[in-house]
Amino acid sequence: MTPSNDLYCVMGNPVEHSKSPWIHARFAELTGQSLRYEKRHIALDSFVSAVNAFRAEGGRGCNITVPFKFEAAAVATQTSERALLAQASNTLRFEGDAILADNTDGVGLVNDIQRNAGVDLWGQRVLLIGAGGAAAGVLGPLLQAQPGHITVTNRTRSKATELVARHATLALLHNTELITQDICRLEGDFDVIINATASSLQGGSIPVTASVLRPGALAYDMMYGPAAADFMTWAHEHSASPRDGLGMLVEQAAEAFLIWRGVRPPSLQVLAELRASMK
Ligand code: ATR
Repeated sequence: MTPSNDLYCVMGNPVEHSKSPWIHARFAELTGQSLRYEKRHIALDSFVSAVNAFRAEGGRGCNITVPFKFEAAAVATQTSERALLAQASNTLRFEGDAILADNTDGVGLVNDIQRNAGVDLWGQRVLLIGAGGAAAGVLGPLLQAQPGHITVTNRTRSKATELVARHATLALLHNTELITQDICRLEGDFDVIINATASSLQGGSIPVTASVLRPGALAYDMMYGPAAADFMTWAHEHSASPRDGLGMLVEQAAEAFLIWRGVRPPSLQVLAELRASMK
């Protein structure tokens, strides 16, 4: 057992629903690490002062959730490649005067798809729906998994075009064709489709036609619980294989834990426990 009681937290607004304290407490238990992990509700105009106050308290790192991921990247003194590409950070680590920003959302998604769902992205045709913060956080790591093709589509096409342009060099490097398409005129079908929109939170319908699904396609919603329910049903009704974002949540947390503690926790076990506790 590590003889410290290091302090971590998740900062967000809202944050009451966050499962991160439970996940990190379980990681700590299973890896024999001694740490405290709290939830911090931060006023919308107080993010930077909250980070500084937390550091002054002795905080060692924090996870950042909506709506502060962009500010978190901006507050850092050092930013990882993947946080730079995303222009957003979900994981901060404090080391002396330095604030290190990383983004583990994308690797969390890719690990859940490849390791937990058993779908190898190499050479696959992928559709990424959305071009907001959630989509920006995952496109770089998706490209690193070397799918053959990624289409990014979004209600506001100009945002998809900007996101794709920012990732064009990485796509070339990994030999992945990366394009945008109009969300109302999508052509082709896909092996993996990933919903990174906030449509369900706003009572919206599924933002794409079912013709995008190849039989047996993996239809992944980055949300979980009730927010993912309509997408799961839609995928199931169209003979796709539905998966919600609970695994991504646990896997992004596992990467953050690794960054902070240097130990990889048993994420698959914790995902199974979390899923069982939510039934
Ligand atoms: P997040 O950090 O969750 O990605 P965001 O940056 O506000 O939040 O992005 C929300 C995403 O959901 C965007 O891609 C948004 O599309 P726009 O760029 O056109 O706004 C998408 N979205 C939200 N409501 C939607 C709806 N009803 N139908 C389709 N897409 C929607």
